[in-house]
Amino acid sequence: MIFEALPVAPADPILGLTEAFNKDPNPNKINLSVGVYKDAEGKTPVFRSVKRAEERILQRETSKDYMPIQGSAEYARVVQELVFGAGHAALAEKRIATAHTPGGTGALRVAGDFIKQMLPGRTVWLSNPTWPNHPNVFKAAGLPIDTYPYFDAAANALDFDAMTAKLKTLPEGDIVLLHGCCHNPTGIDPTPEQWQIIGDILDARKLLPLIDFAYQGLGDGLEEDAAGVRALCRPGREMFICSSFSKNFGLYNERVGALTVVAANEAGAQIALSQLKACIRANYSNPPAHGASIITTVLNDPDLRAEWEAEVAAMRDRINGMRALFVDTLKAKGVQRDFSFLKRQRGMFSFSGLTKEQVETLRQKHAIYILGSGRINVAGMTQGNMGPLCDAIADVLR
Ligand code: LMR
Repeated sequence: MIFEALPVAPADPILGLTEAFNKDPNPNKINLSVGVYKDAEGKTPVFRSVKRAEERILQRETSKDYMPIQGSAEYARVVQELVFGAGHAALAEKRIATAHTPGGTGALRVAGDFIKQMLPGRTVWLSNPTWPNHPNVFKAAGLPIDTYPYFDAAANALDFDAMTAKLKTLPEGDIVLLHGCCHNPTGIDPTPEQWQIIGDILDARKLLPLIDFAYQGLGDGLEEDAAGVRALCRPGREMFICSSFSKNFGLYNERVGALTVVAANEAGAQIALSQLKACIRANYSNPPAHGASIITTVLNDPDLRAEWEAEVAAMRDRINGMRALFVDTLKAKGVQRDFSFLKRQRGMFSFSGLTKEQVETLRQKHAIYILGSGRINVAGMTQGNMGPLCDAIADVLR
């Protein structure tokens, strides 16, 4: 017997909860664990712009031939323009290379493989806390990981002094993973001024930024949310950006993302791309086409693009509306603790400050699923589930 002798792996702290949720027979159960957007009816519909793009793709598609290893050049172009803005000097300088990856997680893993093979000996520094899958991805790539301070739990704010003090001590050449916007799990981002200071430190310490950019458009706007990435993309400076389009196009199960390398010059970008292709070929060979076709079709058509931008804005507005309603409803239910910090946070997630025990009681007694860390998916709240949700939180806080 070989397999029977192996240890059972622990359930994933995020997707494992959805597995448990799906098995829960309670008809009033609420899933606020995984970062999936729900509309006012609690559904995760296909975007209208995406459906319209798919109709066009279905009509015009004549072959299912392989994609190039790095994906299509047109997809790379639209991704770069979305991330940097069409007029960015780095685009004109041709020092950016983009590979189409299966989701943002695929982008992170290809970056991890690239770092392991091409930049050995460098540690990847993660914010504390961070997305629970970040350590898994970089450990699987064989990289050393460590953390820098990020969150001030007492103030429910960014601990900028502690963060920057730590960054100033990191060894030259190490990799610093930053969340481009809508920090997962805290919902707290640096201000534009703080991004500039972070950029100065990265420059001075010769640290290599790796931006996880999974929520562009869900914070303050498509342009506004790119301020951090753009602040770090300075003349001659190098970086990685891992984009995900799961959330801002609702393309969760199409697995569409991108790994972008910004080099110091065009030659550097081409060399980096050649090595990315080698990593990809040894991993999944070449990317699945459909999600990238959708994105390219939407972004290249003014009408579809306008519809998509309006859909992203509606999603953002609904999430921010839920933040306010959550704070108000908790207050109305007599909860003494001040949750107003939730209104200052951005994106899908908030750190509620609930303890592991309180989270467990929410699940056992009320069939409400949030992460063990206390992270709540605000984008899963609706007018309909707000009352029972706040009643349950009031109960566990009593
Ligand atoms: C999350 O953090 O819930 C999302 O990024 C989904 C995932 O894959 O974990």
